[in-house]
Amino acid sequence: MNKNLKLGVFGFGCVGQGLYQVLNNTKGIKAEIVKICVKDKNKSRNVDLGLFTFDKDELLNNPDINVIVELIDDADAAYEIVKAALISGKAVVTANKKMVAEHLEELYELQIKYNTPLLYEASSCASIPIIRNLEEYYDNDLLTKVEGIFNGSSNYILSQIFNKNQSFNASLLEAQKLGFAESDPYLDISGLDSKFKLTIILAHTFGLFVKPEEFFQIGIENINEYDIKFAREKGCKIKLNAFCYKSENDEINAGVLPSFIAKDNPIYNVDDEYNGVLIQSIFSENQFFVGKGAGGLPTGSAVLSDISALTYDYKYEYKKLNQKENLILSNDFKMKIYLRYLIDKSEANKKSYDDLFIEIKETYQNSDYGYIIGEINYNQLVTNYVLNNKSNFIATI
Ligand code: HSE
Repeated sequence: MNKNLKLGVFGFGCVGQGLYQVLNNTKGIKAEIVKICVKDKNKSRNVDLGLFTFDKDELLNNPDINVIVELIDDADAAYEIVKAALISGKAVVTANKKMVAEHLEELYELQIKYNTPLLYEASSCASIPIIRNLEEYYDNDLLTKVEGIFNGSSNYILSQIFNKNQSFNASLLEAQKLGFAESDPYLDISGLDSKFKLTIILAHTFGLFVKPEEFFQIGIENINEYDIKFAREKGCKIKLNAFCYKSENDEINAGVLPSFIAKDNPIYNVDDEYNGVLIQSIFSENQFFVGKGAGGLPTGSAVLSDISALTYDYKYEYKKLNQKENLILSNDFKMKIYLRYLIDKSEANKKSYDDLFIEIKETYQNSDYGYIIGEINYNQLVTNYVLNNKSNFIATI
């Protein structure tokens, strides 16, 4: 109990600096940074330069270091570091959602094989303790759904658009300046970042190891003034919603899509870089978690919480895997969507959009654009060319 931890930290960007700050301002935790491995030799850093090295082996092969904290940007390099650390018996804390999502099953097996813990609370929804809650609090309740806003940058952009009438590009620039966005912000606006988080959450909610490419994501990059006007007329905001739920035939349906959110939905008031996660289960019914989903300090606080958990030998037990009900992921389900298209004056292609729908509920068209609201099969969304059309916007409604 309450081990002394000697940390080897990889990365000193936004989250690394956040961790450094929260660690220095926290009383009671027995954890000390021994070395920080960074890539850029020319960057000026306003902490003790003796802490830094450019050689990863100075951390991985240092017998004094018993915990590796991986906070770098590059998911492939992160995977190599984490794997080497687990094999050598060092506990690992990481915030890298892409890396965890892409290798989760293998990382789970490595933890068992080498009896070394890997914690990654900061990878999903930053300061919201979602993974620990799914693992511990909801260990036996029957979970039916987890959904919400899993990406701070896209939520920041949508909030600036809806609350301040600011443009998409200016809002994205701010999200980058504030340290919310990924170094490649396409990951944020395309829904990929939310999808990585959802992949991790699927394992801790339903005991499913799936690859990110096994389900779909649609981002917010094609949103335009028509969609915003339509949402306002309906008294809604548009939010990027990640969801996974158990269907009536006990299959798991999952995805990331923009969504029209009405005022009576708790997600409506989750703005800026905040994330909001709704957990639904048979016995506790609905619970809603809100917290900062991006930024150095909130993410640093989640990393700190994992480090603190290691002082009392905490590890994930992947409880839902052991309770496995042989659930499978299925993309064969119906959903109601809004599809807005721009009129292609050279080709009359409205008919093709009609064909996508199982049932059309509402249509509108003027000389510039049109929309269709109706029911589709989710599988159709990917296979259909609609997704490849950069001028279309799709949202659940
Ligand atoms: N770029 C991510 C976001 C950072 O905006 O949510 C936190 O994972």
